[in-house]
Amino acid sequence: MEGTGYGKAILIGEHFVVHGARGIGIGIPRKTTVTVAKAPSLKFLFECGDLLKEASRRILRKVAGNTDYEISMESELPASAGMGWSASYSVALASAAGKAAGRQLTRKEVAEIAFEGEKVFHGNPSGIDNTLAAFGGVMLFRKGKGAEPLKVGGKFHFVIANSGKKGPTKELVGMVAKVKETRPTLFGRMMEEEERMVDEAITALGAGDAEKLGGLMERNHALLVELGLSTPIIDEIRKTALENGALGAKITGAGGGGCVLILAPDGNKAREIAERLGKYGAFDFTVSS
Ligand code: MEV
Repeated sequence: MEGTGYGKAILIGEHFVVHGARGIGIGIPRKTTVTVAKAPSLKFLFECGDLLKEASRRILRKVAGNTDYEISMESELPASAGMGWSASYSVALASAAGKAAGRQLTRKEVAEIAFEGEKVFHGNPSGIDNTLAAFGGVMLFRKGKGAEPLKVGGKFHFVIANSGKKGPTKELVGMVAKVKETRPTLFGRMMEEEERMVDEAITALGAGDAEKLGGLMERNHALLVELGLSTPIIDEIRKTALENGALGAKITGAGGGGCVLILAPDGNKAREIAERLGKYGAFDFTVSS
């Protein structure tokens, strides 16, 4: 039986969502596909580490009550790059295992089960990655409260470029938690600023206002820089994108490497920026209602 999970990009709010702020994420048209079949015991037909094995065991136990499955996996997403590979895997596995166990799981249930896998991968995840991996689309998310689709009033042309350096999500989430602990006033101000951006982004998305949204992505990136999450390659990607007409460019995901999400004014510009950033594996895609 087969299951799939989407990749994701975070438009506004990574890290702050872990601490209860709202965030906006978008599903990206790249996916992970997992196939499972009943077997005498758990067997992985692809190379994988201990975390993935443990996450898989937890998901299988939750869905099927046992781990006697053979698992194969194919992904269009790079791992640890900020595109939500682990969540797309967890969602794909939960969905495939549900079918194999004869259960009719809703997407909400699949997202909730995948969250168990995300906890193994990331320690203290907000749940935004597995929610987007299950639903795709453009979603407003709040930890513990789930997600709702947002109105998109036009076409938005995005590019994603991969810095090539893996961002260690668990460590970076821990690093930001330290900032919250040691500098609560500063962090509180950042959370308020981020919440304002979410409100403005909801309006910009609904109105199809790409210029406004690009400006908000820039402001969100500045907060992530203040938290020490950018890198010289991310700065370089942003510079190239902005010099070539991008409306905004920001870290997406945990940072410290990983990917940059870029907003272009139109489809031609998006393709041109993706070409300019070809050495970073850049690709463009459109989000609309
Ligand atoms: C990772 O894609 C997003 C973070 O906010 C972590 C999380 O929300 O679980 C950094």
